[in-house]
Amino acid sequence: MNARRVCVTGATRGIGLAIAERFLADGACVAVNHRSDRPEVLAVLHRLEREHPGRVLPVRADISSFDDVKRMFQEIKAAWGGLDVQVNNAGHAEDSYALMMSEDAWRSVIDTDLSGTFACSKQAAWLMAAQKSGAIVNISSVSAITSPAGQANYAAAKAGVLAFSKTLAKELARMNIRVNAVAPGFIETEMLDGLSAAVKEDYLALIPDRRFGQAEDIANAVHFLASPAASYINGHCLVVDGGLTA
Ligand SMILES: NC(=O)c1ccc[n+]([C@@H]2O[C@H](COP(=O)([O-])OP(=O)(O)OC[C@H]3O[C@@H](n4cnc5c(N)ncnc54)[C@H](OP(=O)(O)O)[C@@H]3O)[C@@H](O)[C@H]2O)c1
Repeated sequence: MNARRVCVTGATRGIGLAIAERFLADGACVAVNHRSDRPEVLAVLHRLEREHPGRVLPVRADISSFDDVKRMFQEIKAAWGGLDVQVNNAGHAEDSYALMMSEDAWRSVIDTDLSGTFACSKQAAWLMAAQKSGAIVNISSVSAITSPAGQANYAAAKAGVLAFSKTLAKELARMNIRVNAVAPGFIETEMLDGLSAAVKEDYLALIPDRRFGQAEDIANAVHFLASPAASYINGHCLVVDGGLTA
């Protein structure tokens, strides 16, 4: 197989879908991770398969389950024999002040955003190590840097993703596998839908570019970090936030 083999987690909506479509537009084969078979999820999968025949591999897994993740990468290995790019995008937030935060809210965000990134990176890296090449891109967040009140679980998970990415970059460099992270600012996806208009106005005022980012802004950054053009970039975090944290 000559096309690049790419796996994107949480790839049926939002930033993950934009990343999958960016690689598909480039001629890559993409393993599209989804955790449910909801009708809207299946509709996206069918559309991608129709638009890119033979290059879409739907792989169902809840990335917070190590067993699911192991099975997902077995399916990828069986289909393609290896993997060139792993994008750990799936994640979610469950905001509340730390003193009010339930154990479930803490665990579910850490289990998905941080442990899921570890589980998928580990399985992907074993496939890449066998071929002595690969690139892993982990989606963190500016919350890892700004540590906002109300996001103790999410900020800790995403800061963990940054630290994990740097450690992994050092460990895998000798196998010709690069590991980088992207830290998005406010991006217009369903994740922002819960915010009131007033809160959105307050956030906009903080962004020098005076606009929220689009999922494609993150997809372009991920695509670059995974490309040969970034071959000397390793252990880096690329902040894509319209100047928010400048
Ligand atoms: N939007 C932003 O402003 C922003 C800013 C900074 C960082 N980020 C990060 O960017 C990534 C994508 O965010 P988004 O805005 O595109 O979010 P989104 O629209 O809520 O999409 C999240 C995706 O992740 C999937 N997912 C969640 N938990 C999963 C699990 N345990 N196993 C497998 N898939 C799972 C979801 O699947 P379901 O459809 O099944 O729920 C969905 O496809 C996340 O890591 C997020 O933290 C987003």
